Amino acid sequence: MHRRLIAPGALAAASLLLAIPASAADYQPGAPGIGDPYYPYYGNGGYDVSHYDLRLKYQPQSDELEGTATILARTTRDLSRFDLDFLLDVSEVRVNGAKATFATSGQHELVVTPATPLPKDTPVTVVVRYSGVPSTKSAYGFTTWHRTPDGAIAADEPEAAWWWFPSNDHPLDKATYDVSVAVPDGTQAISNGRLQSTSSKLGWTRYNWRSGKPQATYLTTLAIGKFDITTGTTSAGVPVVNAYSKDLGDNDGAARASVERTGELVDWLTGYFGPYPFDSVGGYVPNTTTGYALETQTRIYYSPKQFANGSNTSVVVHELAHQWYGDDVSLKGWKDIWINEGFARYAQWLWSEHEGEGTAQELADYVYASHPADDAFWTVRPGDPGPDNQFDTAVYDRGALAVQALRNEVGDEAFFAILKGWPKEHAYGNASVSDFQAYAEKVSGKPLASLFGTWLFQPSKPAASAARTAAVARASAAPARPRSWTKIAATNDVHGH
Ligand code: ARG
Ligand code: ZN
Repeated sequence: MHRRLIAPGALAAASLLLAIPASAADYQPGAPGIGDPYYPYYGNGGYDVSHYDLRLKYQPQSDELEGTATILARTTRDLSRFDLDFLLDVSEVRVNGAKATFATSGQHELVVTPATPLPKDTPVTVVVRYSGVPSTKSAYGFTTWHRTPDGAIAADEPEAAWWWFPSNDHPLDKATYDVSVAVPDGTQAISNGRLQSTSSKLGWTRYNWRSGKPQATYLTTLAIGKFDITTGTTSAGVPVVNAYSKDLGDNDGAARASVERTGELVDWLTGYFGPYPFDSVGGYVPNTTTGYALETQTRIYYSPKQFANGSNTSVVVHELAHQWYGDDVSLKGWKDIWINEGFARYAQWLWSEHEGEGTAQELADYVYASHPADDAFWTVRPGDPGPDNQFDTAVYDRGALAVQALRNEVGDEAFFAILKGWPKEHAYGNASVSDFQAYAEKVSGKPLASLFGTWLFQPSKPAASAARTAAVARASAAPARPRSWTKIAATNDVHGH
């Protein structure tokens, strides 16, 4: 509100006054975080990004990255300045064409002060020029930029962007992307979505990728290296693009025997989750030593380690399931991680059943029985695990157990309607665990507060009576380990950063 005392006689000027921007005193700095209690400084306040245009150049030998990021955003309040999350060295920032001043602050804040304050609800174009050696930059003592023998990859959760582009780094602010990367001839640059074109000049090849549906920052990926690229289509006609490092050694065959089944597995998951939500799909397997895989939107990151014991379609199912549960429908806050990991893990249980390696019920029985009541496993609440346990095994296994409990409570018809209806209900948006509960209640017509409370929020093992009511652990006290178990368990092979 801009209240002013208007002196008599100044009335004629008053209408003029109202037409010019409010005084700078009314404009406040945007918050350094988006308001996520798990990670108070992740994301920022005061604006909403619609598009990132990243134009980069990378030299694998020296790990030097330089680039220009053009960010299209809209203010959500009157702003005197705002933050971006970023770690590389910035040489210039322009806001709506005019040079802005900038400074670093905290662990990963780039504080931008535009020459003129920005009024609420107006479009803003921010251009950031930068360079740096990403592997030398750390925040909170870690880096998630991984160099490989012939390149590098950016793929991590919940943070990956700081090392290669300035952003509003939180899933709440999804945007579309054009990622254009020049690399030395003979090297490839891989990112999300479709490869629009390539061009070559003076020893450098430029790859222009476009991801045209809303995408969270942590799901935006970059892989540079020497890859063998394969193409195909799903039965619905979605182009499949996969990439394998030329240096996968012993893991090469198993990696291809798994990831080449992407199209078939998308078709299979479509039966449960509805139409595939994006215009491209595939994965890449670089020669990294990092153990996990990540559901980077449309172009999944797989560690070669996932294939060290032979082919593994289970991990492909897990990451593909995330395209619906996590990528299309993203979490509102990091505490909502169960919607991502509980359902991606449950998809692996369904695949196990399909492959005759153990039914979802058998897997649920096994999880329930194999953790005694005093196991710390049961202290993790999948519905709000806390930042330190965000990727704990319990979020996955107890999380999938909660899904089985829901299935048994509402019955298969309602359960599979919920499974398929959810991505449609929140397509390209964000949703929370309580939104999920409300949706499941609406579709099933059953109150589910006590079921969700027991399986997602209780910091102890649900009693046998609760388990019987929810019909998990209905078999013997010591059920056999399903054949799919080892591969399923290897999927969240999480090593810290
Ligand atoms: N969402 C990933 C998965 O598919 C988990 C990756 C976590 N890894 C990490 N280093 N933060 O299970
Ligand atoms: Zn996952």
